[in-house]
Amino acid sequence: MILMQPIPLPSTFVHRHLLGIEGLSPEEIAILLELAESYVALNREAQKKRDVLRGRTLILLFFETSTRTRTSFELAGKRLGADVINISVATSAIKKGETLIDTAMTLNAMRPDVLVVRHPDAGAVTLLSNHVNCAVINAGDGSHEHPTQAFVDALTIRRRRGDLRGLSVAICGDVMHSRVARSNIHLLNAMGARVRLVAPPTLLPTAIERMGVEIFHDMRAGLEDCDIIMMLRLQSERMQGTYVPSTREYFHFFGLDKEKLSVAKPDALIMHPGPMNRGVEIDSAVADDITRSVILDQVELGLAVRQACLDILGRNAPALPSAY
Ligand code: CP
Repeated sequence: MILMQPIPLPSTFVHRHLLGIEGLSPEEIAILLELAESYVALNREAQKKRDVLRGRTLILLFFETSTRTRTSFELAGKRLGADVINISVATSAIKKGETLIDTAMTLNAMRPDVLVVRHPDAGAVTLLSNHVNCAVINAGDGSHEHPTQAFVDALTIRRRRGDLRGLSVAICGDVMHSRVARSNIHLLNAMGARVRLVAPPTLLPTAIERMGVEIFHDMRAGLEDCDIIMMLRLQSERMQGTYVPSTREYFHFFGLDKEKLSVAKPDALIMHPGPMNRGVEIDSAVADDITRSVILDQVELGLAVRQACLDILGRNAPALPSAY
């Protein structure tokens, strides 16, 4: 098998874990995006493998469902030459009552190099990272952060628009329950974009404007002349109580369709992290419009972003102490 030469790693990304976008500098964000860019090119070649993580072990531990994030991390690890283990929570000892920390320490004793974790509770991945010796990547913790999705979205915008600085980005829908929204707000603000949130008051956290965003409760006002539209899924699995009168009414006021899209810039990009609820937050006519929608680009670039994250954290992962 022919294996490509490793891409030189920048020396200025010094974090042991990737737990969130909050706290990363614009330079660190740019470094990761540059590395991801080189993986986009590699993934479009016939020979896609590099062996930069040969001998390293990657464990995926997902306490919530996933299609895009889990598959792309698994594929990313394999393309980089790592041994990849997928823990099925449904058939693990977690079902017998083992705690998150005991599970983490058990996996840690097998000396993995990187743990990728998704958990329904905000803060759970950070807590877990305090109990292991390996690098930890947050694949989404409750409504807190989903850092790799924000990198995916930034890379998608950058490849279409060249730069994030000065762009008006409207993040629309269920901001209240969205870790994607929080990570994107941190990243877009750090990189000089202007962020608008467009949602009914019931789906916006109190004091969210302190994050440096502009608030709109009307889609037409919020989308006017914007460059980028990020639609969010209505996350009914995180809702306790009623946040919208009905999905039909929600679509009428906050669903993206051609009519509401018409007030944005004529070349405004349509994004969605997936999975989509068609007819709830987005109409199929705009989701499938290949002249405007970059939703499948986001999926393709998701693989490159996860390769970059694993490369940057996994290649330099320190050898574990002999006794712990
Ligand atoms: N965007 C995202 O996190 O999708 P999955 O839930 O399919 O991983």
